[in-house]
Order: sequence, then C-alpha cells, then structure tokens
Amino acid sequence: MRINDTKLLESFSQLDVELRQGVALAEMTSLGIGGTTDLLRIKKHESIPELLDLLDFNHVLHRFLGGGSNLLVGDGELSWVVLQLVRSEPDVALEGNFARVDAAADLGRTVTYCAKNNLGGMEGLIGVPGTVGGALRMNAGAYGMQIGSYVREVKLYRAADRRIEIIRGSQISFEYRHTSFAPDDMMLAVTLELPSKPFNEILQGIRICNEKRRSSQPLGQKSAGCIFKNPPGASAGRMIDELGLKGHSIGDAHVSDRHANFFVNTGHASAKDMLTLIADVGDRVKNAFGVMLEKEVVVWNA
Ligand code: EPU
Repeated sequence: MRINDTKLLESFSQLDVELRQGVALAEMTSLGIGGTTDLLRIKKHESIPELLDLLDFNHVLHRFLGGGSNLLVGDGELSWVVLQLVRSEPDVALEGNFARVDAAADLGRTVTYCAKNNLGGMEGLIGVPGTVGGALRMNAGAYGMQIGSYVREVKLYRAADRRIEIIRGSQISFEYRHTSFAPDDMMLAVTLELPSKPFNEILQGIRICNEKRRSSQPLGQKSAGCIFKNPPGASAGRMIDELGLKGHSIGDAHVSDRHANFFVNTGHASAKDMLTLIADVGDRVKNAFGVMLEKEVVVWNA
C-alpha cells in the first residue's frame, strides 16, 4: 500500500514519524520472504495514539513489525502499511535486579548486556533472533526458560483503549508461545526482574545453549525458527523427521536437513511456496499421527 496524501505526509513529519516508501519486506524478515509496502518508522512512543487515529480515520490498514524473525509475509503489493519502532540508544536501563528494556531492543544484545552486569536467567534466549518486543508478545522460550517468567511490567499501546498503558506482569498470562495480549496491542517497553549471577556463570550457560543450538538448528540459513508449535507431550520436529521429510521442498522452500521443524528459504522462495509446504507437511503429519499441528510462525497473508 502506498501513502500519497500530502496532508498525511505532513502529519507524519509533525509526529516525528519517518515514511519509507515501497519497502520490500523480504529484506526485513529472517525468512527473506514478503512483498512490498510503505513503512512508518516511529521515533517517539507518545506519537503512537495520534498516528493510529490518523491512519484509522484515513482507512489505512496497518500491522506492527518487530524484528521479523517469526514472520511469514505474503507476496506482491501488500494491502497494509507496516509500523516499526526505531531503536533508541540506550535501550536498556538497569536498576538493581530490574532491567527496563525498549521493545525495539535486540534480544540477544539485551541478554548479553544484562549478563555483563551480572543479571542472568535469560541464557536460553541468547541465539533467538528478533526484538525484545517480539519475544515478549510470543513469550519466546528455549532450553527450559521463557521470557514471561521475568516480566514485571509492560508499557504498551492498547488498541482497544486507543492509548498507552502500563500493566503489571501479573495481569498478563504467559503460556507456551502465547500471551494474553490482543493481536493489535503494540509492545513498547518491558521491565524484567532478573536473578543476580556472576558473569562467568551466565557465560557458561550461554555457551552451552549456543552449542546445543549450533548442533541441532540450521543457524546460517533463512528461516523463521520452528514453523509449528510442539503438540502437548510430542515434538513436531521429530514427527516430521520420522516421516522422512527432511529436504522435502516446494520451489526454494525446504524442510531443513538439520532440524525438521525449521523450514528454510534456500533462494527465492515465495510465500506461496512456503505456505504450500507448511500445508503439505501439516497434512502428512495429520494423516500419519492424527495430530493437527498448529503454526508457530505468524502469517501475514491477507
Ligand atoms: N528431533 C528429531 N529430528 C529433528 C528435530 C528434532 O528427531 O529433525 C528430536 C530431537 O532429537 C529431540 C526432540 O526431537 O529429541 C526435540 O528436539 P529439540 O531439542 O530440537 O527441540 P524442539 O522441541 O524441536 C524446541 C523449540 C525451539 C527451541 C528448542 C530448544 C518449539 C516449537 N521449538 O524445539 O524453539 O530452540 O526447543 O529449547 O517449541 C522456536 O520456537 O522457533 C524454536 C526454534
């Protein structure tokens, strides 16, 4: 979608919102897939309510983009614009065991920064790509931990109330790769309470997780992490592997040879290729095991 209305363009600059026209989302997602649209880069949280009122009034559909690492975007010209927070510097502020982190902060850098200040707990998340806001929304987790356990406060734009609010961690339900945030809530900042640990001990935990990840996941390839959630008591990766589907492909969309729940883009896969592969693998698992796999990857295809 392209925004040409001069009045809207003027309002954006008054709100300190930068418009980038005709951005290829394939370049903003870890899968390297996605069509084209306008991107609105938000520099100040305070401008969000007015910006969204303006977009809604002008019937401009929009979606919030985090780090693009768990996302499959449709092909071609998209019918909505994308909003993204601009990373501020510094994006982490520490006070005792509390870390206040901007949603746009890089997750891995945040884990490392906290570690250097003897704050641990998040070692498992070290190799998870994306922003802190994205990790928060999805309740990202790995190696026995999940970010939700450390959340004490969240600053968000509550779309239903059309305003910025601060809510306590206890008001949010964090489940396996799912939270109680509404789909159109926009994460702005989070306060984490992290356990004190000596840096060397945290570093050791980080090294172990990195090693496990390197040995089992296709890290150098374009992917969105695991495509399906694990069904209760089972492993989606193991089931797909048992069906002999590693390497199975549609166009340039492949089931990874390394981890069967990672689907990789080996060249110029389209969203259509990837979605066809996801549906095909899902059907095969359903037929063989009687289990309907639920997608973990977020799909923006409509
Ligand atoms: N397995 C296979 N073949 C495969 C992949 C896995 O047999 O191709 C087996 C493994 O040998 C193991 C079991 O399946 O016995 C589980 O595999 P793994 O330890 O790799 O964990 P996972 O359940 O596949 C989950 C998360 C990952 C997270 C790892 C490590 C989900 C959907 N995936 O994977 O998270 O990194 O544990 O904690 O919960 C993600 O969310 O995007 C993600 C990558």
